[in-house]
Amino acid sequence: MRVLVTGGCGYIGSHTIVELLNSNMEVIVVDNLVNSSLDVLDNIKKITGKKPTFYEYDMCDKEKLRSIFQKEKIDAVIHFAGLKAVSESVSKPLLYYKNNLFSTINLLECMEEFNVYKLVFSSSATVYGNPTHLPVTEDFPLKTTNPYGTTKLMIENILVDLYKANSKFDITILRYFNPIGAHKSGLIGENPKGIPNNLMPYLVNVALGKSEVLNIYGNDYKTIDGTGVRDYIHVCDLAYGHLLALKNSKSGFKIYNLGTGKPTSVLELVKMFEKVNKVPVKYQITNRRAGDIDACYTSPAKAFKELNFTCRYTLSDMCLDSYNFAKKSIDKESR
Ligand code: NAD
Ligand code: UFG
Repeated sequence: MRVLVTGGCGYIGSHTIVELLNSNMEVIVVDNLVNSSLDVLDNIKKITGKKPTFYEYDMCDKEKLRSIFQKEKIDAVIHFAGLKAVSESVSKPLLYYKNNLFSTINLLECMEEFNVYKLVFSSSATVYGNPTHLPVTEDFPLKTTNPYGTTKLMIENILVDLYKANSKFDITILRYFNPIGAHKSGLIGENPKGIPNNLMPYLVNVALGKSEVLNIYGNDYKTIDGTGVRDYIHVCDLAYGHLLALKNSKSGFKIYNLGTGKPTSVLELVKMFEKVNKVPVKYQITNRRAGDIDACYTSPAKAFKELNFTCRYTLSDMCLDSYNFAKKSIDKESR
């Protein structure tokens, strides 16, 4: 199978490419490197011995995107490309709507024109808003709280309508919970540009002394210890889920949550990180972050039943691998 991976130089895309190449699929990548860098492809080659074909194009440029479909034989697309910072999406909504929607519509038009119908789309647990009860199943009502989340929901709706109009499409929507961790080699991982917003990259920066203290946003949530509860999933498990989605014999329109189903609080994650990495993490409790919710974790039942999806990695692995990647990146920078 020849798979076009959009946003393949990014965090989740790069780990997924490793899974695809290791299972002998051919990979073509399109990425404009707005939130990633080219050396990711060299590191993928170090891990797998193979380097994907690469196009440094902005997917909002339809003619350039189209030229890939003209040149390459493509059997399936995994669509990761997009902007994803929640707070930036609040301050720059037009940038988010333009980038995430235009790129997706261009992609879908090219797919239809060149008779490529198999698509796996990166959605997010953010489409569930603040769930009224837990665990979250795929049939929960959808509601978003920020422009980033709204782009995901709008794209999901576009895909629903597209499938209704053209049932040749074979579409899988994957709603990710909280991916953390990195490939065991420490060669690829999450490398956000600027100050990180998400918990794990920030926690890692504090452990490395790049930031002084981790702000824990509130300890008065209705959770086990008052701090926010999430469903952290190792990025390599998430990547494997994409392979299963591509190989799924069930065709049509499908939606799966990808998470472990295990709730973890901020404090529990910090304690696990300190224990397995044997490093102290200075933290302080601060005010709640606007828009945050008490708890969110999935029921993994549907993904298990239909995709045979299970998670191989534990929270301890996630903490070890995130830190290992960050330490290796620092070593490289200082060389
Ligand atoms: P990432 O930023 O590391 O990767 C996204 C990639 O898309 C980047 O390499 C970026 O350069 C590229 N890109 C963005 N706009 C583009 C455009 N117009 N043309 C070409 N390339 C473009 O993000 P990630 O964490 O790997 O996330 C991948 C996908 O999964 C995103 O769609 C994101 O919204 C979704 N998602 C991520 C998380 C998470 O916590 N990481 C959670 C849920 C959903
Ligand atoms: N948190 C802190 N301090 C920080 C960062 C986060 O205490 O410096 C807390 C948050 O309050 C929350 C938990 O850590 O309780 C997780 O926060 P993240 O920012 O890591 O993740 P979110 O669950 O808020 O959101 C992420 C992505 C969204 C995506 C969602 C579900 O940012 O885009 O996971 O996939 F939709």
